[in-house]
Amino acid sequence: MQFIDLLNQRSSYYDYDADEIITPAIIEALVAEAIKAPSAYHMQNWYFIAVTSKEAKQKLYDVAYQQEKIKKAAVTFIVCGDIDGYQHLEAALQPSIHAGHFPQVLANSSISNAHNSHATNLPLQRDEAIRSASLASMVLMLAAENMGYATGAMSGFEPDKLQATFNLAPTRVPVMLITVGSPTSPRYPQKQRLPVTKKLCII
Ligand SMILES: Cc1cc2nc3c(=O)[nH]c(=O)nc-3n(C[C@H](O)[C@H](O)[C@H](O)COP(=O)(O)O)c2cc1C
Repeated sequence: MQFIDLLNQRSSYYDYDADEIITPAIIEALVAEAIKAPSAYHMQNWYFIAVTSKEAKQKLYDVAYQQEKIKKAAVTFIVCGDIDGYQHLEAALQPSIHAGHFPQVLANSSISNAHNSHATNLPLQRDEAIRSASLASMVLMLAAENMGYATGAMSGFEPDKLQATFNLAPTRVPVMLITVGSPTSPRYPQKQRLPVTKKLCII
């Protein structure tokens, strides 16, 4: 599908086929596309939990204000951001250094800059985690739509309860839920957007 058609046709979907099974191979393919998103310093400070089983769906449903679509979607991704990404930057850059795509000297300076800017700045750690997970979430949605699935983003969940229920490390922030599944009925028309002129200033 043309990218512009994909953008024009996407709208949040709620009425999934509750019997649909999505294979681990498809889930992996979706996440492989999602992680093409950029991240600050190339920290790749995101993590995905694919909720597919009945039991896991029930647990997520319970901490997400009982939103029915979680039970109906073939998979709901809990997209997380890691606030300690700067501490793992060396490992994150290693494959690019190894492939000759990123000089070691630049990597060393990135690691040092990331550490200096993040180590004592908790709001920045959290901001970066949310930025990375949000960009990956949008790419995940577009990748799924491009495969013919319908999707929906959700922030309607109780973060503390979700963190406890899914045993997330304190450094792992749940940022967004993304439902993915086959539509059972036509998509809703895309909602109107406020005019560009109200949302853009060119200076
Ligand atoms: C960050 C975010 C959080 C959202 N949370 C919820 C949610 O908890 N439940 C829900 O039904 N829709 C949720 N939505 C869907 C929005 O209501 C929807 O994207 C918006 O109305 C625009 O409609 P569209 O996605 O069809 O273009 C969320 C969307 C975003 C981007």
